[in-house]
Amino acid sequence: MGADHTRTDIERWILSNLTPQASTTAELMYERMESQSGRCLPVLYEPLDNTKRSHWHDEALIGAFAHAMGDASIVLDVGPGDGWPALRIADRFKKIIGIDPSPLRVRVQRENAERLDIDNVEFLVMDAEEMTFKNGSFGGVTAASSIEQCANPEQALREVLRVLAPGGTLAMVFEDYDACFADSVGDEKLRGELTDKEAVVFYQVRRKSPPRETWYALFLDRQRLNADPEFLEAVENISETPVELDGAPVGDGFVAPSETFGVTLLAGLMPFVADTKYFELNHLTSGTVNELLTRVGFVEMRHLDHRMPELLAFFDAARDAGKLGLNGPVLDVVAEVFGISAVERAGEGPGDFVIARKPG
Ligand SMILES: C[S@@+](CC[C@H](N)C(=O)[O-])C[C@H]1O[C@@H](n2cnc3c(N)ncnc32)[C@H](O)[C@@H]1O
Repeated sequence: MGADHTRTDIERWILSNLTPQASTTAELMYERMESQSGRCLPVLYEPLDNTKRSHWHDEALIGAFAHAMGDASIVLDVGPGDGWPALRIADRFKKIIGIDPSPLRVRVQRENAERLDIDNVEFLVMDAEEMTFKNGSFGGVTAASSIEQCANPEQALREVLRVLAPGGTLAMVFEDYDACFADSVGDEKLRGELTDKEAVVFYQVRRKSPPRETWYALFLDRQRLNADPEFLEAVENISETPVELDGAPVGDGFVAPSETFGVTLLAGLMPFVADTKYFELNHLTSGTVNELLTRVGFVEMRHLDHRMPELLAFFDAARDAGKLGLNGPVLDVVAEVFGISAVERAGEGPGDFVIARKPG
């Protein structure tokens, strides 16, 4: 880990008492979620409904991803989560290959493909930073909110460029640090997760310069914790609501102002800690994405706003005019047209949906 002059009290305590091992978002987050999307994605989990704003938006994004891939025949989807966008664009291409380092995610992706009867997709356990595909294997690559989840986004983009065919296109959506977290820089949060199998306390801290987020996971011995109702309750209480570290009470005996509350709680939990891991995310912005893409060799970067404001304005107007019922605009056609036109109008940044080309 880097220099520690910006470390918080809690981090310093964790680092000196628990010697955390480096890990990844795939292991600490995505490997631990049965559904990464909360099972609310249209088509994958819910029937398409043209009265829902989120379904229009999803359709438009799918249209945009597919259109950006041009006439690619085989497309790579990096980090499909529950299978998005891979399973949603599969009918437009000969084959889609999805890669994800989390075996649980890959299992869910395969199950979803089978349930939806989509047979031109293949999901593999693989890290975007170290792919086993030959150079130039794919006509296009999609990556939705996954490049920023890689420990080294630059290395992942270098690999994406390598496996793209000359002239091939990358279309990626990313969580823009400036847009999403500008107000929460400096945030620290403690969160507890208690399930039948495990008890974990997460401590999360965000920094601005460089824009970075660190998550420490303290895995607790569930049996020993069960035997100690006071601490079990403390972890239970923080599991219900993510707690900001500014004085909120957390269980009996853990009412405290300031950061000492966190150290006090963690120090109390120390005898129960079986393992400690951390991951560190380097956050992206439109500017840093362009820098990375340029550095690894992409050209012709174009950006758009992944929220597709015109589509949503169209939706609101149609709803207000009472035209969203069964006889209203046909969702997939209208949304696809918006997705396509957004890609065609994509321009120089900023925007959190980026389309870039490998030189031909
Ligand atoms: C925020 S989820 C996005 C899932 C999906 N694309 C979507 O938009 O719903 C991030 C995904 O990236 C995957 N991921 C994390 N690190 C990765 C890596 N190094 N290589 C490829 N995928 C990775 C995670 O396992 C997870 O499936």
